[in-house]
Amino acid sequence: MSLPRPIVFGNWKMHGLRRDALALAGSLAERYVRPSGSLGIFPPFTVLAEVARRVAGTRMIVGGQDCHDRPEGPFTGCVSAPMLADAGARAVILGHSERRHGLGERDEWICRKVQAAWGSGLLVVLCIGETEAEWLAGRRFEVLDRQLAGSLPEEVPAGRLVIAYEPVWAIGTGRTPTLEDIRDTHAWLRQRLRARRPAVGDLPLLYGGSVKPENAGDIMAQPDVDGVLVGGASLDPEQFWRIYLAGGGS
Ligand code: 13P
Repeated sequence: MSLPRPIVFGNWKMHGLRRDALALAGSLAERYVRPSGSLGIFPPFTVLAEVARRVAGTRMIVGGQDCHDRPEGPFTGCVSAPMLADAGARAVILGHSERRHGLGERDEWICRKVQAAWGSGLLVVLCIGETEAEWLAGRRFEVLDRQLAGSLPEEVPAGRLVIAYEPVWAIGTGRTPTLEDIRDTHAWLRQRLRARRPAVGDLPLLYGGSVKPENAGDIMAQPDVDGVLVGGASLDPEQFWRIYLAGGGS
């Protein structure tokens, strides 16, 4: 999938009853005409199909927030990659810290989910990031390296992967790393991917964690930051759109 910059993706998390979700999606669809960048929204499963229908005809990407690694079976409460695709999703977020830390998801399982998502033709937004304790202990690169190695399959198809660096301590806290730290981490990620995965080393890298209209322009101006993954501010169409504009989108 070709993803013109800036790439601005909104992770709605567990927010969005039908009426609000459709209003939000509709408000974005009305602005997103003849777009220069890539806008994507990741609503809850319950509204995904309706949201996908609401934005059909625009280039907006609609995705799920997780999927199981199996196509179907006795897995109460889970949703598979073919089900997401069937509902109109073109992408899926995997490995989000709220699932890694909140629900105990491990790299091996995430790796199998990534493979399953690709099997259904979905774009994977793979999230990685260190906790505050790991950050303070200076273990950021070690953790990112482990998560990259553990949650990425050997063969990565071209155009099917985006990596989102989301420091756990920056999510929903209003705190962000300094621009210099974001620059350093993304440069390190780029170099690491080029060395380890030369075929896809130039894949898009997003930053996530307390992105707001006020800081989005500076963050997206950093080298090797191709866009942002937005949580809270993606629930307000005005703020989300201002973030997209701040990254140079139109
Ligand atoms: P916030 O933008 O609310 O900090 O959330 C970031 C995030 O977790 C996106 O996946």
